[in-house]
Amino acid sequence: EIPPEHASSKCHTNFISKLPTREGWSQPLVLYKDYWFRPQLLENILVAQDTYMPRSNDVILATQPKCGTTWLKALCFTIVNRSQYSFSNHPLLTRNPQHVVPFIEIRNEGGDHNYIESLPSPRLLSTHMPLSFIPIETKNQSCRIVYLCRDPKDAFVSRWYFENKLFNGCSLDLGKIFDMFCEGFSPYGPFWNHFLEYWKASMERPEKVMFLKYEDIKSDPALVVRKLADFLGMPFTKAEDDGGIPEQVVKLCDFETLASLQVNQTGLVRGKNYELHNSVFFRKGRVGDWVNHISEEMAGRLDRIVQEKLIGSGLTF
Ligand code: A3P
Repeated sequence: EIPPEHASSKCHTNFISKLPTREGWSQPLVLYKDYWFRPQLLENILVAQDTYMPRSNDVILATQPKCGTTWLKALCFTIVNRSQYSFSNHPLLTRNPQHVVPFIEIRNEGGDHNYIESLPSPRLLSTHMPLSFIPIETKNQSCRIVYLCRDPKDAFVSRWYFENKLFNGCSLDLGKIFDMFCEGFSPYGPFWNHFLEYWKASMERPEKVMFLKYEDIKSDPALVVRKLADFLGMPFTKAEDDGGIPEQVVKLCDFETLASLQVNQTGLVRGKNYELHNSVFFRKGRVGDWVNHISEEMAGRLDRIVQEKLIGSGLTF
């Protein structure tokens, strides 16, 4: 007998093999409901759509890859668990942030999609899925979502490095993939559609969807940490504030702190079909590093495309 998960996964593989496909990135991408995906990741998403059971007190951290997922996971994990762990003996000192907050759709080491169903409430989960792919919208209105976005130019450069590291030995031509990115052809792309969906939801339901920018966390991290705690329904008490707890959260989750830990320099993240060095999640962690990789002309081109897409939305970069 075929286990149910394998049965559905086989049927998804078949379905995915018939979708429009385009080459150019390190693996061909398939188009599904107006978004481009690596086939394996789309399969994970389809399985998650069948198996994920939203709970009203779930908190979902949503991002596109390379927009600061690792950082957001670290910050939110630290905020919601602050009564449980001391800063000197904290799980993040020995575990990569990607490990402490599981993805809804990406399987963890040795695990399957049932793993997240076995977690106690309230769950802190993450996803790269577009909002319209999360069953929440139909089944459950009350989960909280934190979305983190980033300047598309920096996200693009970060993606380029990551993709080259991920697929050992692959060296993607930056100019070529930049053109594809500008067309909206990139993993989880079009880049702007992904964040616009969440942006609109945050305008309609600000108490349930919080929209953050990487650049805003960089410019005043303690302020964002306080806002996150408020949004998550766990505001800092006066004593915590006076005791500098928000600042300690910032320090623990800071790029320099995390990147220098042994676990993040030498450890591995293992999934069912992949193996990732923890160090790939830490490169420079800066705002504006794009200037070192793409020309002003390219930057202007991407900025104009994004600005056009943002017209009428109220969102600016
Ligand atoms: P760069 O490649 O620009 O350095 P993700 O976690 O979504 O994969 O995003 C990775 C990007 O976030 C990388 O950007 C990485 O260096 C940066 N990053 C990782 N941890 C961070 C942290 N604690 N603070 C700020 N940026 C961080």
